[in-house]
Amino acid sequence: MTTIGVVGAGAMGRGICQWALEMGAQAIVFDAKPGSANEARTFILDMLSRAVAKGKLTAAGRDAMISSLEVADSLASFASADVVIEAIVEDIDVKRKLFGELESVVREDAILCTNTSSLSVTACARDCRSPARVVGLHFFNPAPLMKVVEVIRGERTSPDTVNRLLAIVGKSQHKPIVCEDTPGFVVNHAGRGLSTEGLRIVQEGVAEFADVDRVMREYVGLPMGPFELFDLTGLDVSGRVLREIYEGFFHDPRYRPAPLVNRRVEARLFGRKVGEGFYSYPNGKKAEPEEFAAPLDADGSLYIDGPDSLKALLVTAGAKLIDQASMADAILICPLGDDTTAAALASGHDPKRVVAMDMLFSDRHGSGQRATIMGSPVTEKRSLDTVHAALLSSGLRVTRIGDSPGFIAQRVVANIVNTACEIAQQRIAAPHDIDEGVKRGLGYPVGPFALGDQIGGGRILAILRRLQDLTGDPRYRPSLWLRRRAELGVSLSLTER
Ligand code: NAI
Repeated sequence: MTTIGVVGAGAMGRGICQWALEMGAQAIVFDAKPGSANEARTFILDMLSRAVAKGKLTAAGRDAMISSLEVADSLASFASADVVIEAIVEDIDVKRKLFGELESVVREDAILCTNTSSLSVTACARDCRSPARVVGLHFFNPAPLMKVVEVIRGERTSPDTVNRLLAIVGKSQHKPIVCEDTPGFVVNHAGRGLSTEGLRIVQEGVAEFADVDRVMREYVGLPMGPFELFDLTGLDVSGRVLREIYEGFFHDPRYRPAPLVNRRVEARLFGRKVGEGFYSYPNGKKAEPEEFAAPLDADGSLYIDGPDSLKALLVTAGAKLIDQASMADAILICPLGDDTTAAALASGHDPKRVVAMDMLFSDRHGSGQRATIMGSPVTEKRSLDTVHAALLSSGLRVTRIGDSPGFIAQRVVANIVNTACEIAQQRIAAPHDIDEGVKRGLGYPVGPFALGDQIGGGRILAILRRLQDLTGDPRYRPSLWLRRRAELGVSLSLTER
């Protein structure tokens, strides 16, 4: 039977103990603070009892598990452990010291793991006699429920250590994601696509943060938008992660945060835990800001320069469609990667009457789903109101934003896919693992490679190229991984032989 030692019985340590018990291992827990390890035992017993109450576990199963948990009063108890996982304070000196102490008590063949989320595994192992047996094992909170764990190869970690650890993790329900020791590992790195582009859109004055969240939820289908996520994690924590990854990649503009983060951290607008962040939480419940008011009496005529599915949708909604652009109150176009200004000028339509609508997903215009529209700086209010009202009558929710290359969804999705491609290009992890890590760790309904393939690599590439051209910002430069596969017309997850 495998014996897993856990040092640190805080939020993560206790979850990791429960994970070990649930896979049938023996667990030993130690915490430097007297009483903490016992508290963790009580906590785990309570969690397992809840599972019994829900019929997910038998009482005998719970009793067997809890009797496999040993509360240790010193590190000496780890002499019998096959694996020791540290989940102590996030401080490199304290972790190095702990590894030194562990090396003097554990067996020669024991594996030493760090659950660090932001430090380098290589740096944690630096002072070890045998850094070959030190490896990252990064869980997500709450560890028993988040069925994914990153297995991080430090610079000196041996393949044997990784393979033996994978064999142990393989006995659990958690999917291991093997990756290299780089800032943010895989899941937090992949999450930059959503977080930094959401910030960028707000910083550019294109939309309010709540608009970005609504579009990401109700059009793209993510469980949460970036600002809801910042509020949940706490901007004090996510602001630090944003900076660390940006610094870690030597200011690559792909990872650039926005100045508004620092301001909001200074103002202590951390999110849910303090009752105020991007949203306010009166009585603990999120207050939803009001949406752009629906236009009254907007029943102008519409010319549609877009797909038939859009025409059909608006005909059914009773919109006044006409065949001549020159006679229409509003001209509806559906650009990819362009802003309204560039698309209107390229189309030859009168920019004053042009309104652009995001059709990234041409199948997502059912009732309750969300459309995004935008005008150029010269688009008349009447034209915007006409399109807005017609879409509302078709049962859609409507987000009205300022002119933006790629609206909200196109640019965020293109960034999510591009970031994942760059993770694969740098050989940090394999595409399939990146997809699984993102689904399980971030809750996206599909992984970034599957999402990119669904939309088409060529379209993602086109969006990024227009974003790069129109903004001049190298953060949008397409990853070589993406460019090659898109131009070859193959799946974005294709790996080289
Ligand atoms: P926590 O503050 O809840 O727990 C840390 C525990 O370690 C405390 O009980 C403390 O008494 C104990 N401790 C501190 N120094 C010690 C030492 N030298 N020897 C033994 N015990 C010691 O912290 P949390 O949130 O559980 O985080 C632990 C580690 O897991 C950190 O490295 C953190 O970055 C990482 N992590 C945290 C996640 C989270 O969402 N909270 C997610 C993934 C990783």
